[in-house]
Amino acid sequence: DAPTFILGIDTSCDDTGLGVVALTAAGPQVRSNIVWSQTVHAEYGGVMPELASREHVERIDTLLPRALAEAGIALSDLDVVAATSGPGLMGALLVGLMYGKGLAQALKIPFYAAHHLEGHIYAAASEEGLQPPYLALVVSGGHTHLFDVTGGGEYRLVGATRDDAAGEAFDKVARLAGLGYPGGPAISAAAERGDPLAVPFKTPLQGQQGFEFSFSGLKTAALLAFQRGARPEDLAAGFQRAAVRSLVDTAVRAAEALGRETLVVSGGVAANRALRDAFGQTGLRVAFPAGGLNTDNGAMIALAGAAALRDGQPPSSLDGGAAAYLP
Ligand code: KG4
Ligand code: ZN
Repeated sequence: DAPTFILGIDTSCDDTGLGVVALTAAGPQVRSNIVWSQTVHAEYGGVMPELASREHVERIDTLLPRALAEAGIALSDLDVVAATSGPGLMGALLVGLMYGKGLAQALKIPFYAAHHLEGHIYAAASEEGLQPPYLALVVSGGHTHLFDVTGGGEYRLVGATRDDAAGEAFDKVARLAGLGYPGGPAISAAAERGDPLAVPFKTPLQGQQGFEFSFSGLKTAALLAFQRGARPEDLAAGFQRAAVRSLVDTAVRAAEALGRETLVVSGGVAANRALRDAFGQTGLRVAFPAGGLNTDNGAMIALAGAAALRDGQPPSSLDGGAAAYLP
């Protein structure tokens, strides 16, 4: 049987992502994944929404031919288009959403609006062919959410952060310690050279009954220690250790409480080596996204589209809009 070719588009934040997935009876396979990461934001130390939108507009049309070529298909081979409709930066979301809808309309093929977090979840779940139920921990620059995935398209929020997202905390600690942006990879590299016990960091919300997260206390502890002269690499190592502990301990407790044996960990922070190692020692079956699918990308949205197709969900209306916030 000929595969169904699905184009996925994500422009929810500062990465322009287009990817192609081939769906066959054997399951979905990522054929291409082109990500243009915007660098204009570096001098501001954070994402400037209006600049992000403009960059998406400038780039998206040049990335489509590349995504198709790398997948080895022509535009006319596309069967389905999926694009992120939220959550994210409104102006940025609109670029990819309108582009995807226009493409679907011009090619007269179905269109699926995708939830950005579903993309993150399927980035890990699809590769391994996981079937619900499983727990999904999405840890990125904007999100720290723990979901119980009970069926196709069925998610129950089990816990979330009370304040900063995990990736946001990595970014903020890196910035205050002068380690650069984006902070995740910078902290991870610096931590290799640091002593995780040189600066005391308390694991957040230790002893809680629920499954919430909190990272602003770690950020404050890092700032105070930095002002007292702690070495940046020791701060990085200590902060990372506490952040990883909090994520792993909470997810493992939730898995035990809900009787889940499989865990999906995805989002930008899932690229973190220490986090992967710690989850590897939990005894749970833990699935991470393959390379290039951790941080924001289009292939994960194509995978979410493939899952919607396989679950028999009807295509989305071309009248639907973008949403900065979504349940
Ligand atoms: O999923 P993503 O690309 O964008 C959002 O949807 O937010 O995640 C980006 C976040 C950033 O905060 C970045 O610092 C973090 O993921 N990140 C990491 C690593 N690589 C990226 N955090 C920890 N360790 C890493 N190796
Ligand atoms: Zn994301």
